Amino acid sequence: MPDSMYSDIILEYYRHPVNFGKLEPCDIHFHDTNPLCGDDLDIFITLDGNKVREIKFSGKGCAISQASASMLTETVDGKTLDDIKKMSKQDILDMLKIPISHTRIKCALLSLKVLKLGVYKHLGEKISDEDRKL
Ligand code: FES
Repeated sequence: MPDSMYSDIILEYYRHPVNFGKLEPCDIHFHDTNPLCGDDLDIFITLDGNKVREIKFSGKGCAISQASASMLTETVDGKTLDDIKKMSKQDILDMLKIPISHTRIKCALLSLKVLKLGVYKHLGEKISDEDRKL
């Protein structure tokens, strides 16, 4: 598919985000911001054992950050917390399928950062050095 079609997919996720909303009560909730622009994101998860039963996100941000959050929630639905801990920056770039400039990389990774911080907090573990760089 040409890049423009992937851009259209991202705009579609931005305009009609899948899994947008809140889960209350939930097992995992984490909130953080993109330090460069102040845009913010909340992620809410209910668990079935150590697997994601349901996941939602809310917040405000640019098309890349919101589409990335929406796509990520679809990707990790049903996955284990260990699967989430193993996810990398490259997984997000592969998911978005369009070139992301250096200035937009924090937008693209905000959702993975919030998701991982929530998982680490829930597990009572220290964040890995690799994930600290997200
Ligand atoms: Fe704020 Fe992208 S410009 S998250």
